Amino acid sequence: MKKKTIVSEIYIFENLSELSQEEQELLHKASKAREDAYAPYSNFKVGAAVLLDNDEIVIGSNQENASFPSGLCAERVAVFHAGASFPGVPIKTVAIVAAAVDSSSAKPAAPCGNCRQAIYEYESKQEKPISILMMGSDGRVFKCKSMASLLPIAFNNDFLG
Ligand code: THU
Repeated sequence: MKKKTIVSEIYIFENLSELSQEEQELLHKASKAREDAYAPYSNFKVGAAVLLDNDEIVIGSNQENASFPSGLCAERVAVFHAGASFPGVPIKTVAIVAAAVDSSSAKPAAPCGNCRQAIYEYESKQEKPISILMMGSDGRVFKCKSMASLLPIAFNNDFLG
């Protein structure tokens, strides 16, 4: 028997100004996208902005449905939008801003498992890490330099043979 230890790294920034200009702008776009979230059932609004290798930025927000499972998270709306609009263009960064409608002290929320898997698909395909930025409403920003760091021991198409 062998034990393997897997390390996930997360960088914690106390405020936006500690990030690069490009990262700040991307988080700003995610925050604007969040305003258009359709979240009448959860009142939890999420915006995402995807920076591509060709410097295009594609946005998404959570879109809920009276039939709850038919809704979709902001991150998947955004990365699928990117995949559909700019097929094959690698993703550099996904910025996520998430908080309940009336919250001013929410810590940054990590993407759900389904969104991690969806983003990992692109990371695995492009063989280049995708940086993930997360912001809530308490002013802090969390950063992971790759989706593999948020989703260790991931399933990808290697297993399909
Ligand atoms: N949500 C996202 O948009 N992204 C996540 O990673 C977690 C959850 C949305 C789904 C639903 O509309 C609401 O937040 C509450 O779960």
